[in-house]
Amino acid sequence: MKENKVYIETYGCQMNLADTELIMGILKDHGYGLTQEIDDADVVLLNTCSIRDNAEQRIYGRLGNLKTIKNSNPNLVVGVLGCMAERLRKDLVEEKKIVDLVVGPDEYRRMPEFIDLAFHGEKGIGVRLSKTETYDDIIPYREDGLSAWISVMRGCDKFCTFCVVPFTRGRERSRSLKSIVDEIKLLSDRGFKEITLLGQNVNSYLDGENDFADLLAASAKVDRTMRIRFTTSHPQDLSDKLLYTIREHGNICKSIHLPVQSGSNRILELMNRTYSIEHYLTIIEKARELMEEISFTTDIISGFPTETEKDHKLTLDVMKKVRYDGAYMFKYSPREGTKAFKMNDDVTEEIKSVRLQEIIQLQQKISYEINQTLVGKEQIVLIDGFSKKSDQFLAGRTDTNKVVVIPKDGKIKPGDYIRVKINRATQATLFGNAAINSEINPNSMALTA
Ligand code: 5AD
Ligand code: SF4
Repeated sequence: MKENKVYIETYGCQMNLADTELIMGILKDHGYGLTQEIDDADVVLLNTCSIRDNAEQRIYGRLGNLKTIKNSNPNLVVGVLGCMAERLRKDLVEEKKIVDLVVGPDEYRRMPEFIDLAFHGEKGIGVRLSKTETYDDIIPYREDGLSAWISVMRGCDKFCTFCVVPFTRGRERSRSLKSIVDEIKLLSDRGFKEITLLGQNVNSYLDGENDFADLLAASAKVDRTMRIRFTTSHPQDLSDKLLYTIREHGNICKSIHLPVQSGSNRILELMNRTYSIEHYLTIIEKARELMEEISFTTDIISGFPTETEKDHKLTLDVMKKVRYDGAYMFKYSPREGTKAFKMNDDVTEEIKSVRLQEIIQLQQKISYEINQTLVGKEQIVLIDGFSKKSDQFLAGRTDTNKVVVIPKDGKIKPGDYIRVKINRATQATLFGNAAINSEINPNSMALTA
């Protein structure tokens, strides 16, 4: 029998990238082949994102393209997976005639069944959310490489008023610590050097007595030559125990993504973020007391309902106080079904744009200044391949997740930890040279410079 081939495109967050690997694992187990070429595919799947309206518009655009492809190949099965499947099932099935299957984030085990239905001309629809599904026993399909994502928990119970995630991905639930540690062991045996533990709100991880700090410590112990990263942290649940755990293990990266969203307590309350700016700043201060080199990144939303010029200035103030290494910055986008959707989206598009620009410019200035302070210093870099711009240069990342570019050298290869002296920096990239005796034995020391 001919092997059916599947092509998947992934949109949105890292959780979706991890889910795509999970789906590929499930489909491979059921005899499907994978292809990188859409023209070669019997099944085309889009793993979608609903976080902001522009994410959904992009996918609607893509479905338009797929219609043309399907016109010339009517047997092609087209599927929409992920958050949009959950949110727009009816619209997708009834109005987008080209969509044959619609599968939400908790029904991926049934993908083979849904694809089968679609091959027989029926619509395959699975959009039930689960309180327990964690796919704990499924081994995701991953190409060999250096970095891997592992989702450790699913869903979110925070209900920030602007956010669709609690509706599209359901309630929080955690995988078992043991299966995560086993997965890291397998990846270590395959030569992976960096693991990112993923969850919408990783600090809520709980497996029996074990909290996220315990999971992080257990992950770090698997292989000391592997870097462990994690994202995303919610300020409400970031415990002292977690900070001490990060400090204790040389191979847990000193880098925390801690979305602040706004600098105004009034807006934070309307967003249901459940912390004040004062509390948020206390966490940052404590972390920096414990770990001098720690880096922070954040998410910021500009133009939430009722945001005034004063609120906006408070956001700029908090950015100046924290001095983030980087930030993801967005205009507020009303999402149907959320609490904020019922508030009046009263900040005009023009004002949102102006404020967002101010936020972006300030962040670029701060990133540039922070990177300048690293010029002349040494950093330990995990080399991960060629630079994006030229194959005469290698690129890698520091412990704090900054990109470093060095000239190519016959001896240095992807997967090596190298000591690099930084000699130039832009707001996005550090440039340097491998220090003399640059090779380090990651077993014998902490992986920080
Ligand atoms: N509008 C704009 N940004 C949003 N985010 C989540 N929902 C919205 C929305 N409705 C942002 C938040 C979150 C990040 C993943 O996306 O900053 O932390
Ligand atoms: Fe959305 Fe808030 Fe949950 Fe993050 S913590 S996924 S912003 S509801």
